[in-house]
Amino acid sequence: MVSFASNGNFQNQTMTTAKKKPIIRMPNLMLMVVVVVLLSLYMLPICVFAAKRQEQQQRKLRFGSSGEFKILQVADMHYGNGKPTPCLDVLPKQFASCSDLNTSAFIHRMILAEKPNLIVFTGDNIFGFDATDAAKSLNAAFAPAISSNIPWAAVLGNHDQESTLSRGGVMKHIVGLKNTLSQVNPSDTKIIDGFGNYNLEVGGVKGSSFENKSVLNLYFLDSGDYSTVPSIPGYGWIKPSQQFWFQLTSAKLQREYKNKPHPQKESAPGLAYFHIPLPEFASFDSSNFTGVRQEGISSASVNSGFFTTMVEAGDVKAVFTGHDHLNDFCGELTGIKLCYAGGFGYHAYGKAGWSRRARVVVASLEKTEKGGWGTIKSIKSWKRLDDHHLTAIDGQVLWSKSSSGNRRKKQTTGA
Ligand SMILES: *[C@@H]1O[C@H](CO)[C@@H](O)[C@H](O)[C@H]1NC(C)=O
Ligand SMILES: *[C@@H]1O[C@H](CO)[C@@H](O)[C@H](O)[C@H]1NC(C)=O
Ligand SMILES: *[C@@H]1O[C@H](CO)[C@@H](O)[C@H](O)[C@H]1NC(C)=O
Repeated sequence: MVSFASNGNFQNQTMTTAKKKPIIRMPNLMLMVVVVVLLSLYMLPICVFAAKRQEQQQRKLRFGSSGEFKILQVADMHYGNGKPTPCLDVLPKQFASCSDLNTSAFIHRMILAEKPNLIVFTGDNIFGFDATDAAKSLNAAFAPAISSNIPWAAVLGNHDQESTLSRGGVMKHIVGLKNTLSQVNPSDTKIIDGFGNYNLEVGGVKGSSFENKSVLNLYFLDSGDYSTVPSIPGYGWIKPSQQFWFQLTSAKLQREYKNKPHPQKESAPGLAYFHIPLPEFASFDSSNFTGVRQEGISSASVNSGFFTTMVEAGDVKAVFTGHDHLNDFCGELTGIKLCYAGGFGYHAYGKAGWSRRARVVVASLEKTEKGGWGTIKSIKSWKRLDDHHLTAIDGQVLWSKSSSGNRRKKQTTGA
């Protein structure tokens, strides 16, 4: 059987300490009591806030002294109940010995092989219909990431809420798990659709000129589940409220990057992670993508404009989704790479004999003339198959500083 990790609860400590304060007997005892109570009420939120802040700062992502930052994307785990949940679409001889535990084993192998700095789960983390207890399934699904002590982030797919928790409930449960940087929604935004819209900043190397700047920006969005508009069939989409939050966030990050100290001319590259592919994923064929397309693009049946919003914002260089397990390609449209990860989980539909897989992205910093670390020079990607050797395939450059600089130059000369 699978053992489910329970998430810890860290509160109330300040309260007990406050109560233990000795009260000296004096005529104005009542006044003293009032003062102590008021003081502890005043201190409590400060202590909690300080602890939270410290936690956030400890977890702040940044490039290490290798000058690289690596992200492992796990798409569509479709976790059920663990060992009793069988694999789908494996070869007949593989069937008897295959379960959700193979999904966990694959994550574990990927972590050992790649030693990523961040693990991103792009939805359908659990397959709700086959998960008896959503919380237990989520705990088990994320357990390999949690025990690795590597920070991780997750967004929702269209199946995560089909068990015992609502979409909000699933996201709330996720943010309570250990080592996660996931957020239910941005704290400074009052109205936003969905659950699990947030961004993470990746700082430059400690001790370098960019130690206080975010040199890589990660955006996470909830692409919804199903349309709730009767006249529009099919999957959900990224709503205007989410796009507005993205616009504001992108603009703020670009402003900070271009301001003192060390003001930059270009914006820091951004990467966006969500579950359901955008309609623009259908713009390619095998002549202009790397990877394979073995099924249709299951985006929403309407285009809510998020691709255009990203092109306009200008900082996002690549988008990573899951949802279509048999597609694992990456193609470029208008300066943005649109990439699938390919199906990861064994209780997800797949293709017998076609390995489950994961996508890896690595951003590399440029060396400055003085020998220190600068800003991002290139962003590369490949996939690994869950075969004997974890074979790496389809290596490609997603973005590089020089090529985008050249393109800009050509445009200005032409004008
Ligand atoms: C699933 O895991 C079992 C136990 O480690 C292993 O024997 C089997 O080959 C795995 N199946 C697949 C399809 O990887
Ligand atoms: C980053 O911030 C810290 C703390 O404010 C400061 O001591 C340090 O000099 C800053 N580094 C750079 C490169 O600006
Ligand atoms: C990819 O190539 C096909 C023709 O083979 C073309 O119709 C399509 O527009 C191209 N897509 C992009 C994004 O360049």
